[in-house]
Amino acid sequence: MLVRDRVHSVLVHTPAKLNLFLEVLGKRADGYHELETLMVSVALYDSLIFTEEDSGDVRLRCFSAGSRNTGSDQADRVPHGTENLVVRAAQLLQEHADVRRGVCIDLWKRIPAAAGLGGGSSDAAATLAALNRLWRLELSAAELCRLAARLGSDVPFFLADTNAAFCRGRGEEISPCETATSLNFVVVQPLAGLSTAAVYRAWTPAERSPNDAAAMADSLREGRPARTAACLYNALQAPAEQLSTEVRQLAAKFSRQPVLGHMLSGSGTACFGLCAHRRQALRIASRLRSQRAGRVFVARTRP
Ligand code: C5P
Repeated sequence: MLVRDRVHSVLVHTPAKLNLFLEVLGKRADGYHELETLMVSVALYDSLIFTEEDSGDVRLRCFSAGSRNTGSDQADRVPHGTENLVVRAAQLLQEHADVRRGVCIDLWKRIPAAAGLGGGSSDAAATLAALNRLWRLELSAAELCRLAARLGSDVPFFLADTNAAFCRGRGEEISPCETATSLNFVVVQPLAGLSTAAVYRAWTPAERSPNDAAAMADSLREGRPARTAACLYNALQAPAEQLSTEVRQLAAKFSRQPVLGHMLSGSGTACFGLCAHRRQALRIASRLRSQRAGRVFVARTRP
């Protein structure tokens, strides 16, 4: 996350994520699922500008900043009112810090929504970080992290601002891990989205992955993309394929491409292919675009 102070505003560029490994360990008494996941952040960013507002209100305006490839309708796909996690994050902070200050938030969407790429969670984390500065609240990192976990399971990962991390619990317990090289991906989002809750509901305990998140972390630390590809795993791939023909078709399209490996991200519907290098990612992206596989873009892990 890149945070810049301006005279009366704060500008943030906040990234998307991919789940390279996601194991569901079981259902918890609180209705959530216990996870072990390894997430990386990739260089595809939403941008937000936070400007003080005298009224004390929280106002959000959404714009599409997507290129032709990430789509131009992203702003239409995100909720504008209190269902937007950005507004909820700002209101939670007002309530928690007991402040009456307002803010106008301009959000430029590039990260596809409802795709398993963490766009909404990333925007919410950006909101907590930016308003802590704009409103001079001086809340500690641990306090912000607790608020982040109340907003959503993926929000603490973005607040941790690391390029790779193990996430446990329902996803909110973060331990950063090292990466030796950057990884190149082709990411495709089919036009249909899936509800995260519906995908988790459709999950049934099945065979466990032969690998674990630690094996994935070793491959990242050693900078061995082929080993990383061999460790790719997502326990939500099967339920997402069961719920969505488009996810099934996309997996079939990826299996005909010379990628090192491919997988669903989070609860979908976006899938990614891990490529040997950027040139290959660009070539495969253009092939998948011509097959009208969905919204296609290339992204690499952040340095
Ligand atoms: O935490 P978040 O709001 O992103 O989760 C959305 C929904 O996904 C939850 O309401 C829950 O149904 C499901 N979920 C889950 N276990 C998790 C994370 C999410 O069951 N670890």
